[in-house]
Amino acid sequence: MIVVGGSASKSIAQKLAAELGCNLAEVNVKRFTDRECYVCVDDELKHKDVILVQNTYPDENIIELYLLQDLIYEQEINKLITVVPYYGYARQDKRFKDGECISAGALAKHLQLQTDEIITIDLHAKSILEWFTKPVYELSGMVQVGEHFKRNPPDIVMAPDKGAVDRAKLVAEIIGCEWDYFEKTRIDDHNVKITPKNVEVRDKNIVIVDDIIATGGTIVTSANYLKEQGAKTVIAACTHGLYTENALERLKNSALDEVISTDTLESETSTVSVAPEIAKLLKK
Ligand code: R5P
Repeated sequence: MIVVGGSASKSIAQKLAAELGCNLAEVNVKRFTDRECYVCVDDELKHKDVILVQNTYPDENIIELYLLQDLIYEQEINKLITVVPYYGYARQDKRFKDGECISAGALAKHLQLQTDEIITIDLHAKSILEWFTKPVYELSGMVQVGEHFKRNPPDIVMAPDKGAVDRAKLVAEIIGCEWDYFEKTRIDDHNVKITPKNVEVRDKNIVIVDDIIATGGTIVTSANYLKEQGAKTVIAACTHGLYTENALERLKNSALDEVISTDTLESETSTVSVAPEIAKLLKK
């Protein structure tokens, strides 16, 4: 087995190779002045199970992924497993109005052309799995998030909306604490409204969990509300720290005490690694 890390997922590929106790390939990726991509893998891949790790965000990493898949797949490898820690375009998982492209599906159709299997983490919508005709596995970053908080358990794990309820339940089960959720209405790209709810949070330590933090609107609104209700500490934990625009600044200036994320997207908040989860599946 050998791990090949694309430029969007270098550190997670390194950790995965360490977890698996296998080699990490020497990958050379260059961008030309027009941003076109050049990829080269120097290691011998013949007859090996190859694990390619690369995000599909931002856009230019999609092309890099296709080039890496192409160069690996044309060799006499045993098997190619493509790991996409953060699956971009997942939020356009349906046609919200006629004429729109279902981007998540379009990506799936192309992504599976030159691979035998696909592994991804916390897809924004489970329905995306249905676009794949090859074996696809979705893992949860929340398992390692739960393990992380076991060391310093909160009183309540909150989901900022109904869509995140399963994640909150999972983390709360691992920690052994209570969970609850808010009702959220999105006003625009940056702002959401939280419907007040009767959760007893006074003097409690709260962890809010979500799949993605993008603009930070959801988490900031939830954290500010919890603090207004008397919460003692509020920590945000997400799988994918996307942090668009000035999200990190917005989070730092909010009522939040801390923000953590997994390393599906590498940033200053990636304190939890999903590599052990991926390794667990690959070792089966
Ligand atoms: C929405 O359904 C997602 O689970 C996240 O809550 C959302 O993507 C977060 O976006 P933002 O940080 O921009 O509020």
